[in-house]
Amino acid sequence: MTARTAFILAFLSMIAAGVSLAGPVTSAPDAERGNGLAQRLCSNCHLVTSEQTHANADIPSFREIANKQGQTEGSIMARIVIPKHAMPVIPVSKSELHDLAAYIMTLRDTEQRMRP
Ligand code: HEC
Repeated sequence: MTARTAFILAFLSMIAAGVSLAGPVTSAPDAERGNGLAQRLCSNCHLVTSEQTHANADIPSFREIANKQGQTEGSIMARIVIPKHAMPVIPVSKSELHDLAAYIMTLRDTEQRMRP
């Protein structure tokens, strides 16, 4: 088993167990830091902020991702760690992963937040 496979398995089992990735991460997720990261790492493909004018039209915007029914930070993090085809694996640290998911969830509309 490669280290990467081991990491993915450990990650999935943590999600399955409902355990947060918090472990060695000491600070709370920081959506503002996530916003900066997203603009740097993700905006080539995704519409990250509403001010952004250029992105790939075939790729869901972060607002759309945030508003998917039943969306959670956990499932966003899982999709960053194990992307579907067409999205590359982007190496980010665990705390960056939390920050990105926290940022994306700030884009969720209020009415969606009320029925998770
Ligand atoms: C090279 C282009 C590219 C980059 C860069 C990229 N993505 Fe994606 N992303 C995609 C594509 C394409 C999909 C759609 C895959 C699918 O679901 O079929 C996707 C899907 C996603 C999804 C799942 C959406 C869903 O349907 O739930 C998340 C979450 C996501 N991206 C987050 C990110 C984050 C966070 C970053 C930056 C760290 C990022 N992406 C960078 C191309 C990219």
